[in-house]
Amino acid sequence: MVPEVLDGLSVQPDRTYVDATVGLGGHAEAILQRSSPTGRLIGLDQDPDNLARATARLQPFGSRALLFHCNFSNLTDVLEKCHLTTVAGILADLGLSMEQLKVSGRGFSFGGEEPLDMRMNPAAQTQTAADLLNTRSEADLSRIFWELGEERWARRLARRVVQMRQQRPFQTTAQLVQAVLSAIPVKPSSRRLHPATRVFQALRLAVNQELERLADFLPQAIAALAPQGRLVVIAYHSLEDRIVKQAFLQAEKAGLVQRWQKKPLRPTAAEVKRNPRARSAKLRCVVRTAVAPGSGPQEVV
Ligand SMILES: C[S@@+](CC[C@H](N)C(=O)[O-])C[C@H]1O[C@@H](n2cnc3c(N)ncnc32)[C@H](O)[C@@H]1O
Repeated sequence: MVPEVLDGLSVQPDRTYVDATVGLGGHAEAILQRSSPTGRLIGLDQDPDNLARATARLQPFGSRALLFHCNFSNLTDVLEKCHLTTVAGILADLGLSMEQLKVSGRGFSFGGEEPLDMRMNPAAQTQTAADLLNTRSEADLSRIFWELGEERWARRLARRVVQMRQQRPFQTTAQLVQAVLSAIPVKPSSRRLHPATRVFQALRLAVNQELERLADFLPQAIAALAPQGRLVVIAYHSLEDRIVKQAFLQAEKAGLVQRWQKKPLRPTAAEVKRNPRARSAKLRCVVRTAVAPGSGPQEVV
């Protein structure tokens, strides 16, 4: 959704933008091109492999791009390091990149046989998906599958995981797929979501504490917008979209922002054809309207 992101951020030359999920650098590159010749981009990503890819891609922009390996929940600290209090726009394109799914070898996808890791930042996080499956109580696992995967067979699956781990601890994605297929009375079909989809989502969200970090990030991002600055968030499932929607409504009620569009934007049919993973994307955007109550004058950069 590159054109929608550039419109939402209303990218202007010479301003400073943050891409809080720089990923492979696609959106960041478009923002730098549109904000030529002196616009700056601060990019964050918690995945070191993706950050290395973005670094290589953005190299032609020289010192206009500044990248940080960190969680976006540390946005305020990063801006402080850059001696900034506000910026003209912030983007968060949530979730995983294609590379993480297809080539990271960290067990994000259930297609092959990979270690059940699922950490986006292996250097900072200690608990893998296998650790969760092998150590959490049946009640905890059931709650994770239900609350983070909206999996209706959560209890059955948690019971099955606990039975299976007594025979052999969970180590690979194939073992988890086997647990799902033997616990859930739904067979894989080409028309429906694969039965393991929700369980993989739930574990990934739990391992990376994605919803908690998103809830930490949103108020920091709103506070970091200069007047008329824009925050654009693209969510890929209802749990994260609900958090974004509520944070935006709350900020709107407090008089800090206005919604750019009443309804979230969806990808065009052509984009979904090119990239089927985009089909569930919802883009929401708010425009900063006011100086936060009690805060001093703001610098527009
Ligand atoms: C959908 S991809 C972004 C793709 C990017 N917009 C592009 O054009 O290439 C999401 C990225 O966000 C990163 N990410 C997810 N949660 C994060 C968080 N809490 N803090 C920092 N990075 C995060 C992932 O590692 C991944 O690289």
